[in-house]
Amino acid sequence: MIREHVRLDRFNTFGLPAVAERYLPLRHPEQLSGSAFERAPDLVLGGGSNLLLMEEIPGLTVHVLLSGIEWTDGRGRFRVAAGTDWNQFVRYTLEAGFPGMENLILIPGTVGASPVQNIGAYGAEVSEFITAVHAWEYGRGPVTLSPADCNFGYRDSRFKHEPGRYLITSVEFDLSERRPLKLAYGAIGSELERRGISDPTPADVANAVTHIRRSKLPDWFFLGNSGSFFKNPVVDRADYERLAADHPDMPSYPIDDESVKLPAGWLIDRAGLRGTGTERVGSYDKQALVLVNRGQARGTDVLAFSEDVRQIVHRKFGVCLEPEVRQVPAPTGQVG
Ligand code: EPU
Repeated sequence: MIREHVRLDRFNTFGLPAVAERYLPLRHPEQLSGSAFERAPDLVLGGGSNLLLMEEIPGLTVHVLLSGIEWTDGRGRFRVAAGTDWNQFVRYTLEAGFPGMENLILIPGTVGASPVQNIGAYGAEVSEFITAVHAWEYGRGPVTLSPADCNFGYRDSRFKHEPGRYLITSVEFDLSERRPLKLAYGAIGSELERRGISDPTPADVANAVTHIRRSKLPDWFFLGNSGSFFKNPVVDRADYERLAADHPDMPSYPIDDESVKLPAGWLIDRAGLRGTGTERVGSYDKQALVLVNRGQARGTDVLAFSEDVRQIVHRKFGVCLEPEVRQVPAPTGQVG
């Protein structure tokens, strides 16, 4: 049943105050054939972990609460309802004896949101494991998309480019293949070494990632945030070389012959902004790329601070930062 004027403060990890004009919890797939799903709602809310909500959310918000894990073949194939908590699913697979996603442990949000921005961490991306995405196509009905149909990229997919077309209802994963552990990224190697582990198991990697995430990323329950606020920018090789000449200690990740990805957190940090901000909003002192709600922040406060960060980084490095989080309602001139 649709309710009016429902507060979304507790449904977004930034803890921003917002009111949905109309709100519909989606608990059963049967609801999809109702008239509310003939066209796209104004907002589809999952775990609310990648959103920058302005105070009034016009139109209809659908809250995806479909949940459940189906272990389809006993050999590592799972079909998971969209509203299932991502971290719970990762833990379930590890406990069931199907490693693979240990690097993706503790990412906030829901399973249904995971393909939308192709969530990733510590050298792994969810698209490596997805075999199918089941969705409701507005005006059409249930459809199944193959991984190729999803056009996965870095924090990107078809679902970001066609925001009003599909509502993801469940995702299928295949964890039957044994893959080598991914230990090369970031601090995983040094954390395992610190623990005196030379021949790690997937559980050891999961524990190391858990420790690293907890030490760098704030727990939204205590300090509202949406993880990385900006994407890591990709620049032309020529621009990279100009910057690297001035900043020899700048970390970088080559993409191909023409482009290089730069860590936005490093740029923000070196622009002198780590830990700065106002009493309401600021950059987290242990990871500059994470903007935090220090209490009482509103969407407009976060937006204003993020614009300052973009301008200062652009002035210092000539690099444009693009938000990773999604602003709702979308700023005029921008879809999604
Ligand atoms: N750095 C600094 N200062 C900072 C922050 C970072 O110098 O304040 C440097 C680090 O020392 C490192 C580099 O910047 O050399 C990159 O930092 P880090 O390894 O922490 O990762 P990131 O690029 O900031 C990305 C993802 C995270 C993911 C981590 C770990 C993006 C936009 N972010 O962050 O994802 O958890 O890698 O894999 O790709 C998210 O998307 O919400 C998210 C948290």
